[in-house]
Amino acid sequence: MQAIVMTHTGGPEVLVPREVPAPQPDAGEVLIRAEAIPVLYPETLLRSGTFPMAAPPPVVFGHQAAGEIVEVGPGVARELLGRRVVAATAGSGSYAEFVCAPVANTTVIPAEVSTDDAAATMMSGSIALALLEAANLTGTETVVVEAGATGVGSYLVQLAREFGAARVIATAGGSTKGERARELGADQVIDHRTDEWAETLAANAPGTVDIVFDSIGGSTATALLSAMTPGSGRMLSYGWLSGTPAQVSAADLIPGGLSLTACAGPAWHQRAQRARAGILARVPSLSPPVETVLPLGEAARGHELVESRRLLGKVVLRPAATH
Ligand SMILES: NC(=O)c1ccc[n+]([C@@H]2O[C@H](COP(=O)([O-])OP(=O)(O)OC[C@H]3O[C@@H](n4cnc5c(N)ncnc54)[C@H](OP(=O)(O)O)[C@@H]3O)[C@@H](O)[C@H]2O)c1
Repeated sequence: MQAIVMTHTGGPEVLVPREVPAPQPDAGEVLIRAEAIPVLYPETLLRSGTFPMAAPPPVVFGHQAAGEIVEVGPGVARELLGRRVVAATAGSGSYAEFVCAPVANTTVIPAEVSTDDAAATMMSGSIALALLEAANLTGTETVVVEAGATGVGSYLVQLAREFGAARVIATAGGSTKGERARELGADQVIDHRTDEWAETLAANAPGTVDIVFDSIGGSTATALLSAMTPGSGRMLSYGWLSGTPAQVSAADLIPGGLSLTACAGPAWHQRAQRARAGILARVPSLSPPVETVLPLGEAARGHELVESRRLLGKVVLRPAATH
């Protein structure tokens, strides 16, 4: 079968199309004929070596795929054959025509949702749902969504009111992404490429932000603490687009009676996994998630596009057999 092998850590060029044997499902696994494979922003960090890979290269790259279950391993119900699912692999192997995944990591795609849309939505959307559940919004609160035009942030902006936000402030890089964040439902947009935007927000509206969904991290997170509501302000930290996690210590939080929740690690991912069916059910009412469909062999190009920061939607890879 055709697959994309990551030969080393490095730039997009380390993702190389190769012919490899099709995998066989082990106990508790299913085999999927992949039709849509999302390129995920965190995968660019794994490919570049910023984060460690579960399996060292050379390895068939990739974490999620959507398609039809065509074989089941020992202990898995045969009734699942023919089901359309999105699956998360055990850490590699999804950039391929055939993909093995634990049956527990599969989510059935509702009939009214396309395979492309399911693939493109599942990771970002399920993280956003889990974050909104963890935020416990009260119905009157103001939220800041960092990087709110794309990925996880775009789902936070679209769903925040349903979960009890009264006002949504989004950050985005540049005017096109700013407009996008407004279209998705933000009341106010701040360009996070301007210098000291967090300090300016805190100076103009001190103590008014109840929740920060923090994906930028670094010193931005520290600056935002003065914008947060004393006694009840909560920061949910789930990414570090700036290159470092939120630079916030207990000593920074104590004076304002603020809290910070780290939304990462295995327990967090189990929580996000429980949100997968919920986000797929919401796809028909959300903004279309796919921007570009590329042949699987052009996976490196897909990574270049994601790293360019020009995209508003997701890149989906399509194996040749399903063209
Ligand atoms: N904890 C978890 O479970 C979890 C799961 C998934 C993702 N994440 C993390 O969440 C963050 C967002 O991921 P995603 O998949 O939703 O990505 P995404 O929005 O699809 O793509 C990343 C976006 O971040 C912005 N960006 C890139 N570098 C930046 C920087 N230095 N400062 C500010 N913004 C920057 C870019 O927008 P602009 O052009 O507008 O700047 C780009 O559109 C990442 O840090 C990712 O690792 C965490």
